[in-house]
Amino acid sequence: MRISVPGPEPVDPAAFDLFDPESYATGDPHPAWAAMRAHAPLHRQELPDGREFVSVTRHADVCRVLGSHREFTSERGSLLQQLGQGEAAAGKMLVATDPPRHGELRRPLNRMLTGKGLDASRELVREAARAVFRPPADGEVWDLAACAAELPMAVAGALMGLPPGDGPRLLKWTGMAAAPQDPAFRVHSAKATLAIAHHELFTYFSEQVRVRENGFRAEGPDLVRYLMEVPAGDAPLSREEVILNCYSLLLGANATTPHTVSGTVMALMENPGQYRLVRADPSLVPGLVEEGLRWTSAAGSFLRHAVTDVELSGGTVRAGEAVAAWVGSANRDERVFTRPYRFDVTRSDNRHIAFGFGPHYCLGAAVARLTLNAFFAEAVERVEEFEPAGEPVHLASNFIAGITRLPVRVRSSSRAAPVRRTAAPPTGAPPTEARAAAVTGESDEGERHGVDRAPTDRRTAGDPRHSPGRSGDPAGR
Ligand code: HEM
Repeated sequence: MRISVPGPEPVDPAAFDLFDPESYATGDPHPAWAAMRAHAPLHRQELPDGREFVSVTRHADVCRVLGSHREFTSERGSLLQQLGQGEAAAGKMLVATDPPRHGELRRPLNRMLTGKGLDASRELVREAARAVFRPPADGEVWDLAACAAELPMAVAGALMGLPPGDGPRLLKWTGMAAAPQDPAFRVHSAKATLAIAHHELFTYFSEQVRVRENGFRAEGPDLVRYLMEVPAGDAPLSREEVILNCYSLLLGANATTPHTVSGTVMALMENPGQYRLVRADPSLVPGLVEEGLRWTSAAGSFLRHAVTDVELSGGTVRAGEAVAAWVGSANRDERVFTRPYRFDVTRSDNRHIAFGFGPHYCLGAAVARLTLNAFFAEAVERVEEFEPAGEPVHLASNFIAGITRLPVRVRSSSRAAPVRRTAAPPTGAPPTEARAAAVTGESDEGERHGVDRAPTDRRTAGDPRHSPGRSGDPAGR
């Protein structure tokens, strides 16, 4: 998905097909979302086959839809690609289960993936993230999207106790499950692709359960075994629940983290001043990660169904209607973010909802933050500059805002460069602009706020400083 700055000219929200995955490979929903937030905060779209859904695009409405399970259920599917199909895993898989059962499934996993439970695995996560960062020699073209794709698999695979050699096929199957319409993953039709991916992944995890039943013990952490043994409510999970939630964990990790990395690097190439800022003061890495999460909003939309009539901005959602909550739009809402189209690692009002909102708030958020912080701390130490080396390829998906190919060149950091290594806290609050300016002594406002390079997917010719890029907002929003 491209990310442009909406211009002053009026945009017809209906002109962008929010449902068609292909729209996101070739086009850019941001101008349409901006128009919806302004003029059509409750937008209905009917598909040629008669299916219909409502879109909400304002931050407050997206939070209400994702956060209020009594008004909006997840049990009829949580992805737009499931529209009209129902959800076979309802009540068994975390993301497709409403409270109170949702809480029973979630609490044990939450214990392992946050706070003290995660402490035991922190170094393992950091090491896995660092190991994936392997830039080539200076000047060689590097597909950063391919590198980033390995990242969550290395981390989640290690946490789940999966054999490292299984990474490539798991990556392929989770890619097929998350974006079955994309040419990089599609096998025959999207429907067939999804069916194959589900079959392979469920068979795989079924086998992982079987080997553990037969006595296999992973050397490190093992979330598969943990799920097999931990009580959820007053009983252990069924075999089917174990398999479904292993699937969900792996998909949650693989489908999102790589695209956050690629989208962030792309934004940094368009805003090299921001990268220089972070290199000069690596304590800004957590701020970079949070802004990268907001900017890319890798998990771009989620589906819910209204349980009852609900009043939202722009009108009433009727009981039974499908509602798409557009996280990518909420994270650009000018009611919440100052200058939302500016990529700013020192942003202090970053109330992004890239990890969702409410009961289904991303279970892997702490792991993802740890991973992203480790990855970018490594990048900042080792790479002086990222440069575009070809056209990026955007993912065909109405769910994941992704990039499947991102050719870059790097200039390695010279040891003489003024780079300090600080252990970046994984969840630190983004530092303030004032603090960053004081730390770096940065005086060039234009550079600091990133309008000094053309967009990576240049669609506008001429002087990049005068072109409305994907990021720096010449209109000053
Ligand atoms: C940058 C990385 C990530 C992003 C942007 C992201 C985003 C999200 C969002 C928006 C949701 C809410 C879904 C909903 O409301 O229906 C979610 C849920 C979830 N995520 Fe993530 N995620 C990321 C990384 C991870 C990782 C690393 C894992 C696993 C270790 C993970 C596992 C899950 C699971 C299991 C859920 C379902 C939680 C529930 O239903 O209670 N995610 N994620």
